[in-house]
Amino acid sequence: MSDPHNHSAEAALAALKELQHEIQESILDSVQAVDEYRIRFLSRKQGQITALLKRIPEVAIEHKKLFGQEINAAKALVEARIEEAMVRFVESGDSSKQVADLTLPGRSLAKGSLHPISQALRLITRCFESYGFEVAEGPEIEDDWHNFSALNFPPDHPARDMQDTFFIEAPSAVHSGILLRTHTSPVQIRVMENKKPPIRVIVPGRVYRNEAISYKSYCLFHQVEGLYVDEGVTMADLKQIIHAFARTLFGENVKMRFRPSFFPFTEPSAEVDIWWEDLALPDGGRWMEIMGCGMVDPNVLEGLGIDSEKYSGYAFGMGMERIAMLRFGIDDIRVLYENDVRFLEQFG
Ligand code: DAH
Repeated sequence: MSDPHNHSAEAALAALKELQHEIQESILDSVQAVDEYRIRFLSRKQGQITALLKRIPEVAIEHKKLFGQEINAAKALVEARIEEAMVRFVESGDSSKQVADLTLPGRSLAKGSLHPISQALRLITRCFESYGFEVAEGPEIEDDWHNFSALNFPPDHPARDMQDTFFIEAPSAVHSGILLRTHTSPVQIRVMENKKPPIRVIVPGRVYRNEAISYKSYCLFHQVEGLYVDEGVTMADLKQIIHAFARTLFGENVKMRFRPSFFPFTEPSAEVDIWWEDLALPDGGRWMEIMGCGMVDPNVLEGLGIDSEKYSGYAFGMGMERIAMLRFGIDDIRVLYENDVRFLEQFG
């Protein structure tokens, strides 16, 4: 009777022979063929070499060593043939047989970025929010009352000429005239119409002026208005908050000055300049205006039914483009509206 153990040992040896033959003869003429070859022989789970390794126990003890060595040799041959085929493909220059070079750096995806004006807005908003200001908004199409009259611009006051207005409709029986707002100050009025002090808001928004377009002015731009009305608000409070703001945006050592000015809706009024270092200039820099501000004129408060004996307030207004240009070193306002990706990409 033949030994069944011996029988399966013979089968295992035959399988090895068969495998060696296939390993030698398989045609490796494409990347796909090489992939299949690799899986067929080397896959840990279903590879034929693994399968054969599992059959070692079937082999008689005196043949085990040789059997193991043969399998290892077969495995080495598979690896060598794969290597040889890959080198051959790369050298052939045939792109259909190109193999991915895993050592190449990956391709980076184009990243979007926030527009410099949005970035400036975020910085400004975050700063004032940290001092307890809320964000308010108002319409871009305004009436003359909110844009001018309620802000203490008398009907024929030359101050109205300070702003070149885009008018939409002449005054009528139902409204005081419709226009594109020339500043965000009318939202001060809208806020005070709807809320009693204490009031502490900032108002970001787009404004329009019929100005000649140049490197420093555009027909539309953005402002941020600020308003704080409460009992006992003073000019010192105003100076303090503006100084804190300037330090946040332009650094701890920012140099700043208040210069007397005029706005119909504030009394006293000031303009705020920061020192812009530029060593190419004779003085090593120059003063740049960043905003207008002042104590809310009692006339404005009274016009809205707020007792100006009890309450006082400060207001300020700044151009967001100006802030963005200073902060990011942009010297022409027009590039902010051209949406040239090469420009925008620099602010990622
Ligand atoms: N509305 C002014 C402008 O557009 C800016 C401004 C100045 C706003 C003084 C204010 C302020 O609130 O108090 O030029």
